[in-house]
Amino acid sequence: MATLSFNKVTKTYPGNIAVIHGIDMEIADGEFIVIVGPSGCGKSTLMRMVAGLEGISGGEISIDGKVVNKLEPAERDIAMVFQNYALYPHMTVFDNMAYGLKIRKLGKAEIQRRVEDAARILELSHLLERRPRQLSGGQRQRVAMGRAIVRDPKVFLFDEPLSNLDAKLRVQMRLEIQKLHHRLRTTSLYVTHDQVEAMTLAQRMVVMNKGIPEQIGTPAQVFEKPASTFVASFIGSPPMNLIPVQIDDQRQIHDADGALLQFDADSVPASLRNRKAIMGIRPEHMQLHASGLKMEVEMVEILGSEQLIHGRLGDTPIILRCPVGVTKDYPLEIGEAVQVGSDGKHPLHWFDPESGKRIED
Ligand SMILES: Nc1ncnc2c1ncn2[C@@H]1O[C@H](COP(=O)(O)OP(=O)(O)O)[C@@H](O)[C@H]1O
Ligand SMILES: [Mg+2]
Repeated sequence: MATLSFNKVTKTYPGNIAVIHGIDMEIADGEFIVIVGPSGCGKSTLMRMVAGLEGISGGEISIDGKVVNKLEPAERDIAMVFQNYALYPHMTVFDNMAYGLKIRKLGKAEIQRRVEDAARILELSHLLERRPRQLSGGQRQRVAMGRAIVRDPKVFLFDEPLSNLDAKLRVQMRLEIQKLHHRLRTTSLYVTHDQVEAMTLAQRMVVMNKGIPEQIGTPAQVFEKPASTFVASFIGSPPMNLIPVQIDDQRQIHDADGALLQFDADSVPASLRNRKAIMGIRPEHMQLHASGLKMEVEMVEILGSEQLIHGRLGDTPIILRCPVGVTKDYPLEIGEAVQVGSDGKHPLHWFDPESGKRIED
């Protein structure tokens, strides 16, 4: 078990390509942290620096208070599961899992015990004599995880381990990983570009944008109080509606064209008087036939019990997510003008139009 800390960690690849711009973070013993961000934002680079596969350009990474910048990968006591978890095709499941331990020269009985333990946890006991090609995708992924578990490392690193699986299997494996962590309590750093995976797995999550952590917090904190428009539009499905507005001295809200929007002036922070702002409202916190704004229906997606209603306010796309039953005139016609607003139960979000940062009341 171990703590993991980042102190002003940066990475610049040769050619002056700056990829990580200063990460500060403390990960507690046994914590499960998810780093989430779009492709190319530096997630794998960060993981590879922790694992020792990539040099650290600035700052320090410490495990249990000890700086590991100069340690070889093998000396860091870390196990990593990748997206491309290439198993050795000519080896059995047992040998695939035992391989790393043989290299580390553990005794035969100890190897046997560790592989059998891991196989039991991962429900692979009956497959130990099979070869990878005789396994399903999910089983192969479990073997890759087994390879990491048998090492009994201080820290687990997962780099998009479920990306190659189909949607159903991904959900299943997500649960497996949760159960596994509940059982082993090994400090874990998990990287994904999938915000649903991040929300469901993380104890705390780091939302990364272009090598900068935009927000670190529990999934609930990040969802309820996104620190920036980037976070607001990355976390949540569909993403938060972000509407450029102008606030007058009565704290009334006007859209970009100056038309009055009918939202409660009391929900507007006093600091926004006579200023421009971005107003945020989640699709599922909106209501049809409520006072707010008028939009024309552009498209309706029926998801079963819910529907997504797409429209537009000037140039700004607006999405509403609501139960199908609530519309008396269901289904809505394309081109129909509807009045939509807040459900009155959730506060509006406010962001600075220049910096994109959250404005607190
Ligand atoms: N060896 C390298 N040399 C130069 N640039 C690299 C190298 N590896 C990755 N990069 C760049 O660093 C950025 C982050 O890459 P990566 O960490 O793989 O992102 P992610 O895992 O979030 O998709 C990308 O713009 C990528 O092109
Ligand atoms: Mg990556």
